[in-house]
Amino acid sequence: MSLDVPSRQFQQWIAQAGELIINYYKQKDEAKVFAGKSPEEVLGLLDEPLPEQPSAIEKVLQKVEDDVLGSITNSAGPRYFGYITGGGNQVAVLAEMIKASLNQNNLKWHSSPVSTEMERLVMRWVAEFIGYPTTSAGVLLSGGSVANHNALAVARKIKAPTDIAENGLYGSKPMTVYVSSEGHSSFDKAADMLGIGKKYLRKIPVNDDMQMNVQALVKQIEQDKKAGLYPICAIAVAGTTNTGAIDDLQAVAEICEKHDLWYHVDAAYGGPAAGVASVAGLFSGIERADSVVINPHKWMYVPFEAGGMLVKNPDHLRATFSTIPDYLKSDRTDEGRTDLMEYNLPLTKEFKALKVWMTLKTYGAGKIRETIQQDIEKASYLVDKVEESEMFEVMAPAPLSIVCFRYAPAGKSTQELNKLNDTIINKIEQDGRIFLTGTKIRGNTALRVCFINHRTTTADIDYLIAVVLDIAEKGSVQ
Ligand SMILES: Cc1ncc(COP(=O)(O)O)c(C=O)c1O
Repeated sequence: MSLDVPSRQFQQWIAQAGELIINYYKQKDEAKVFAGKSPEEVLGLLDEPLPEQPSAIEKVLQKVEDDVLGSITNSAGPRYFGYITGGGNQVAVLAEMIKASLNQNNLKWHSSPVSTEMERLVMRWVAEFIGYPTTSAGVLLSGGSVANHNALAVARKIKAPTDIAENGLYGSKPMTVYVSSEGHSSFDKAADMLGIGKKYLRKIPVNDDMQMNVQALVKQIEQDKKAGLYPICAIAVAGTTNTGAIDDLQAVAEICEKHDLWYHVDAAYGGPAAGVASVAGLFSGIERADSVVINPHKWMYVPFEAGGMLVKNPDHLRATFSTIPDYLKSDRTDEGRTDLMEYNLPLTKEFKALKVWMTLKTYGAGKIRETIQQDIEKASYLVDKVEESEMFEVMAPAPLSIVCFRYAPAGKSTQELNKLNDTIINKIEQDGRIFLTGTKIRGNTALRVCFINHRTTTADIDYLIAVVLDIAEKGSVQ
């Protein structure tokens, strides 16, 4: 028994879903960003026993409109400044619908020839966009954390002193990996899960600009070697999560070459800015990396999920991930077919490339570059506003599109400022007019704003400042 309905009816469903999307788009710019509901309230809207009986699609869509849309965080809207969230784009909305209709699985070339070739192509385009060799191999994954994990698995496989596929880690000296103290937490998870051990993930201190102190890196590598440990990889961050700092990529490349380390660049957030003339120089040296992580779902405005990993030598990916059981061996392997299952951890994988391809095709790389440039200018606009104000101060340099600042009225101690800003961050969430997240800069609380939503305007930034002041000074929560 097929679950399908006749074409006319399906067309009506698509029109109804389309209307729902249009309605959301019409109000997202002005809508509250955070719904302010409790977990019980959200679950209460949805909770029911497993539905054994069917429901009419109209009722289901109505439920989505009322209860799902009524409980989202409005991250596609222009006043969402939290985390690193691009807001998606309309072309990719169409791509996602087409993707689900085609239901391609690109585990092997013959299970989806076009998904495989398009994924290879878009990763080549991404490499070209950022000035990385286009002879590299790239795969799309769910996000930067998984991509960093996969990249570190490649580094470990290629640089380990023993054949870890056969022996595990047992025959090896402890391996060490290096990243700045501002590196992303996915490396802590990866060090844990890959058996490297968190204590062997060396956190190198940063300088005043929040970049890794490369002298301290060299010192740590030399100390570790002397202590009988086995350094395998150094990671440079090209756009830290906290402040957007970009490590000295040339210097880390030199050190990796000298010490025969795998050179990984985590450009999950900042990478696309390497293709933008005004800041491209900051990324000089990215082309020397053995692997790069870059997320189309961040600063290329593609909706979640689309993380990307590029590895300079495609053989290194195959050496790490290729495992082919009998049931995956029956197809032809000639004619230059590439089976992506040999290049990453997943077997089943959705047709992620379609939304990246449609985004790049429709807008063109030039438009994406321009939009990134505008985001960088939005950050400068906020920095200027903060510096002009006597009530705020900037907490860290903002080389890309993240600004860390705090409310800092005169006469307060550091401890008082931390407490005050912690309270402001909580109240901003409760209030819901804007959405931002907090972080710590050298141990002190900062309001952190990230501009990678193409819909944000300077008027939204003025609004952000007004709301923060309103909450900070009057304690008002709407
Ligand atoms: C520098 C950096 N690396 C990795 C990640 C993890 O990416 P994802 O959230 O897609 O897992 C992030 C996320 O913000 C990031 O900023």
